[in-house]
Amino acid sequence: MTTATARAFPNIALVKYWGKQDEDLILPVAGSLSLTLDAFPTTTTVALDAGARSDAFALNGAEASSDATRRVTRFLDRVRELAGSEARAVVTSTNEAPTGAGLASSASGFAALATAAAAAYGLDLDRRDLSRLARRGSGSASRSLVDGLAVWHAGDDAHSYAEGVSGPDMRMVIVTVDTAQKAVSSRAAMRRSALTSPFFPAWISSTEESLAAMLEACAADDFTRVGRITETHALRMHAVIQSCDPPIRYLAPTSVAVFDAVAALRDQGLEAYATADAGPNVAVIVRPDQAEDLRDALQGFGSVRLVGAGAGAQLVAPDS
Ligand code: PMV
Repeated sequence: MTTATARAFPNIALVKYWGKQDEDLILPVAGSLSLTLDAFPTTTTVALDAGARSDAFALNGAEASSDATRRVTRFLDRVRELAGSEARAVVTSTNEAPTGAGLASSASGFAALATAAAAAYGLDLDRRDLSRLARRGSGSASRSLVDGLAVWHAGDDAHSYAEGVSGPDMRMVIVTVDTAQKAVSSRAAMRRSALTSPFFPAWISSTEESLAAMLEACAADDFTRVGRITETHALRMHAVIQSCDPPIRYLAPTSVAVFDAVAALRDQGLEAYATADAGPNVAVIVRPDQAEDLRDALQGFGSVRLVGAGAGAQLVAPDS
């Protein structure tokens, strides 16, 4: 096959990935755990173009920036190395989430790209190896190869991949408070956190503890424990980010207001827990039978969308 199309969904981490042990291989300082969503997909077609001298990348119908194209080329270089090919490619991608606003578009983007590129270049990779490959584009993308709840293992290149875990059934309400591109990329902010936050060593050890506790809570099907770990861990990540020099703050006043509203709803018996990635938007987990009440309660903070657990990246017919 020299042309392939894949679709992938973003994921939202309940135990966050924040910091790299190896920047080239994208090996994380600790493991993480996420929920792959059933909304905001990225669909990407990779078509080999034997005569071309460089790769081309179009995102949402327009030529992508040179930075974005370079990132795609770097990723395809890895695929070409594995495939023993020198062919350049035309990459066409559409993204249903606002790019760069903390809704993990890089996760769905590189999961879809890895899946489509592997097929177009004729690589026969299983899901584990596709997860390892997607990781090289963006760490969180390793988790979007997996359906529903996914744990991404820390470790060396061979062992750092994501795989499925079972856990409580849940829904998520995504509150989009701002769709602007973030001022500091997560890549740069992770590096600054590791270099300048005095809390970074504690962040690594506490993430290991949170992940172990989260895996236990998932195995026990304990939504309350999953939720408590999720919210505490998210605020710890933002504490580390805010403690950089110079500081970075991703949470907007409205984001904080959503965390407060969620805490108030819990007091009233609506059991929900908030998290936020490297941006101002907030994702709130809830039991399925309270999901619609939560969505209604959070209208007014931004645009709200109720989502569930979705599928890992898959090849699709070109125009589906
Ligand atoms: O994969 P990246 O480089 O976009 O990093 C994403 C990091 C967070 O979204 C903030 C946390 C996570 O685990 O997804």
